Amino acid sequence: MNRLDWSSQPGQPLHGNVRVPGDKSVSHRALMLAAIAEGESRIRGFLEGEDTRATAAVLAQLGVRIDTPSAGERVVHGVGLHGLRGSSSPLDCGNAGTGMRLLTGLLAGQAFDSTLIGDASLSKRPMRRVTDPLALMGARIDTRDGLPPLQVHGGQPLLGIRYELPVASAQVKSALLLAGLYGIGDTEIIEPHPTRDYTERMLAAFGWPIAFEPGRAKLQGGHALHATDVDVPADFSSAAFFLVAASIVPGSELRLPAVGLNPRRTGLLHALRLMGADITIEHHCESGGEPVGDLVVRHAPLHGVELPESLVPDMIDEFPALFIAAAVASGRTVIRGAAELRVKESDRIATMATGLRALGAAIEETADGAIIHGGKLGNGSVESHLDHRIAMSFAVAGLVASGPVRINDCSHVATSFPGFLELANGCGFALQDAG
Ligand code: S3P
Repeated sequence: MNRLDWSSQPGQPLHGNVRVPGDKSVSHRALMLAAIAEGESRIRGFLEGEDTRATAAVLAQLGVRIDTPSAGERVVHGVGLHGLRGSSSPLDCGNAGTGMRLLTGLLAGQAFDSTLIGDASLSKRPMRRVTDPLALMGARIDTRDGLPPLQVHGGQPLLGIRYELPVASAQVKSALLLAGLYGIGDTEIIEPHPTRDYTERMLAAFGWPIAFEPGRAKLQGGHALHATDVDVPADFSSAAFFLVAASIVPGSELRLPAVGLNPRRTGLLHALRLMGADITIEHHCESGGEPVGDLVVRHAPLHGVELPESLVPDMIDEFPALFIAAAVASGRTVIRGAAELRVKESDRIATMATGLRALGAAIEETADGAIIHGGKLGNGSVESHLDHRIAMSFAVAGLVASGPVRINDCSHVATSFPGFLELANGCGFALQDAG
């Protein structure tokens, strides 16, 4: 990946319609379930990001034909539950934790061996949270001290398990449910706090019997998946940058059409409203079994809050954006119970704290969060640490800084949000290639 640095500075008040790309979590799952379904599934609104394209490439390597009739559309020719073929080359998940963890669950029950690899950031992310419970099911997976690459040994009969997740993680839950499709008997997952339930909803849509409610899911091995079409909503996590940007730039008003509003994803909406944000939902409806709506956000003065810990899992990907909102709000924001941020694409507590300090903000890091003293941001230079969401969050910070914010190495933005720069500049950002 070529290195790409950005410079972000105050632009115009933000205005317009911002159509953000398809949901990453839904796109990954749609590809995987369609791949092992019987028949042809069409995915519309597919995220053309590097993460989801990496998953498509892995599935193609495993013998699945995936056509691209147009950008944002895939037709997956399912091979059935036992139709995947092994590959002698490593399967490259790129930067995608979701891709690697879910594929590990899917591959644990196959007859063939697989090796899963990732980029420098993914190679530092913990995998025992997936491989330990999979081992309880009978899987054999070698790691490099708990990190990728993962060697998944095929031909292991899997047994269903009842497993209480030690940390709230939709990726781990989903990996175990995918392995459970190949297991003998029931697989039941209990979560310490409900997480996004796309795997459960989509398994049901593909015709697999599954019982689920917030915090719990149970299925039995030995059924079949039947092809179905999937409409992917716009990604709330991508909309998040614009929600914060329009909230903090005076005179702004943005409309973000048809954004996925699954309640396990919209914690930031509640957090920003607690801080005084003016965000309304219009045209609330259901699409493809998911709640969607247009988000309309207008500038409003924000104030600091003690963030309720109960919101943390529902906004786990939105903290980098929230840190920026808190850094320019009046008063103090306290974040607790968010230690998971330390094992995302980067250590998001440390990378945000270091970056905000470089812009003159007062922020104290804690083991599981931060205390952010709102104020003004100055100019400066920050590192993305190969983390797409860090790069986009500091692009938002540049809108209200006293001078240009240089963001080093923004190439990973393309993993989740291709076209971010153009879309952002189209509504009033002044974001440029810093050369
Ligand atoms: C995801 C789950 C979350 C989230 C990630 C996507 C998913 O990770 O941070 O971006 O699609 O299941 P964890 O399961 O590690 O919390």
